[in-house]
Amino acid sequence: MKGLILYSSKTGNTKIMAEQIYKKLKEKFQIYLCDISSIDNSGAVPCNLGADPLGLSLDMEKSSKEKIENFDFVLLGAWIDRGTLNKNAMKVFKRIKNKKIGLFATLGAMPNSDHGKNVKKTLEELLKNKESLGTYLCPGQVDPKMIKKLEGLTGMVVPKKIKDKMIQTSLKSRKATEEELKDAGEYFYKKINSITT
Ligand SMILES: Cc1cc2nc3c(=O)[nH]c(=O)nc-3n(C[C@H](O)[C@H](O)[C@H](O)COP(=O)(O)O)c2cc1C
Repeated sequence: MKGLILYSSKTGNTKIMAEQIYKKLKEKFQIYLCDISSIDNSGAVPCNLGADPLGLSLDMEKSSKEKIENFDFVLLGAWIDRGTLNKNAMKVFKRIKNKKIGLFATLGAMPNSDHGKNVKKTLEELLKNKESLGTYLCPGQVDPKMIKKLEGLTGMVVPKKIKDKMIQTSLKSRKATEEELKDAGEYFYKKINSITT
C-alpha cells in the first residue's frame, strides 16, 4: 500500500496534523507527505518529501516525482474556509478520481460544536460515492491577524450578529493537543489497516 498525504495549510495547524498522521502511518505503510502547493501542472508530487517531513536539506532538482494516480490511497488535509475545504484543497480534491480517499481538516470551531458537526457532514458528503477512508477534524487556532480583519468588517459585508459569533469562536479557538493529533493518526491507521487485511 503506497499512500499520499497531501495538505494545504496557511498558518501551520493543518501542516502539524498532516505530519502527525504521517508519523503514525509510516509505522506500517509506504507513505509520502506533500504540501499541495508543490503539486506541478501535470499532477505530479515530489515524492522524497516523505523521507523527511521537515525536509530542510531537500534538493528539489534531484527529487523524484510521482503522479497522484500512482498512489493506492490519498489523505487530503485542508483548513476550513467558510464551512468547507479551503479553495486550493477543493481544487485538488476535484482532480482526484477513482481513488481511496480520506479527508482531514483543522478549523477554528471545536469539532464537537454545531458548526463543527456541520463541517464534518459537509466533508462526509464530499466523499459520498467515493471509496471513503473517512473524515477527521481537529481544532486549529485562528490567526490573530484574521480576527483583527474580522473586527474591521462592517455590517455591510457580514451582519453584526454573524460577525460577533465568528469573532467569539475565533477568540476561543486553540491549537490541537498532542492527544487529539495522535487520535487523528490512529483513526486513519485503523481505516487503512482494515482495507489491507
Ligand atoms: C478566511 C478564513 C475562513 C475561515 N472559515 C472558518 C470556518 O468557516 N469555520 C471554522 O471553524 N474556522 C474557519 N477558519 C479558521 C481556520 O479554518 C482554522 O484556524 C485552521 O486551523 C487554519 O489552518 P492552518 O493553520 O493550517 O492554515 C477560517 C479561517 C480563515 C482565514
